[in-house]
Amino acid sequence: MEASTYNQVDSWNEVILIYRSALKEVNTKLEILNDEFQHVHRYNPIEHIKSRIKTSESIVKKLKKKGYESTIENMVDHVDDIAGIRIICSFTSDIYQIAEMLANQNDIKILSVKDYIKNPKPSGYKSYHMIVTVPIFLSNKVVDCKVEIQIRTVAMDFWASLEHKIHYKFEGNAPEHIQEELVECANMVSNLDAKMLSLNEEIQSLSAAEKEL
Ligand code: GTP
Ligand code: MG
Repeated sequence: MEASTYNQVDSWNEVILIYRSALKEVNTKLEILNDEFQHVHRYNPIEHIKSRIKTSESIVKKLKKKGYESTIENMVDHVDDIAGIRIICSFTSDIYQIAEMLANQNDIKILSVKDYIKNPKPSGYKSYHMIVTVPIFLSNKVVDCKVEIQIRTVAMDFWASLEHKIHYKFEGNAPEHIQEELVECANMVSNLDAKMLSLNEEIQSLSAAEKEL
């Protein structure tokens, strides 16, 4: 193996190790917040968490789409979702609480926020997105590593996974009536989320009143 080839492989492995570590760090932070929330408020704001490292094929595809050569430097600089975490909550209010709790941690830097709940995409897509960095402590240096965090309700996640399958199947050109029905479903998701939230609030206030008796 030539020296230059060895270096590329070596630095690829190091970069991926850093992204994996970043996922571990953020996952631990989320577990701690969820446990503490359970302790204080007697419920879990997080239903479940999924995390993944983007495949090398998807990284190359994204760089190509953005017009960049496939180099490790370009991927670190221009692909923000190599490390991705998806947090699934019960209620819309949980989403904002989790986002705020993360934002308040002073080792986490927020690079960007996209609130597709307040401003849904034309497709109907809703979620709260943050690109953050988290410091990774290696033997001889500290590196800030980017992580894409998507926070959504169970209902939004249900919608997004079906829409993703349809998008994939039709390579982005789904028949018009399917697109329209998806937007309709997205509205139903919003109504469901709003109803579930107000029901939950009512239940909470009832049980709080019972405690006072
Ligand atoms: P990507 O190049 O797709 O990553 O988009 P972006 O860099 O413009 O960022 P954005 O925040 O819009 O989207 C990031 C991610 O959110 C995507 O990779 C998807 O996982 C998810 N997402 C965004 N829009 C949609 C959508 O319309 N449908 C579904 N199912 N997922 C979406
Ligand atoms: Mg993406």
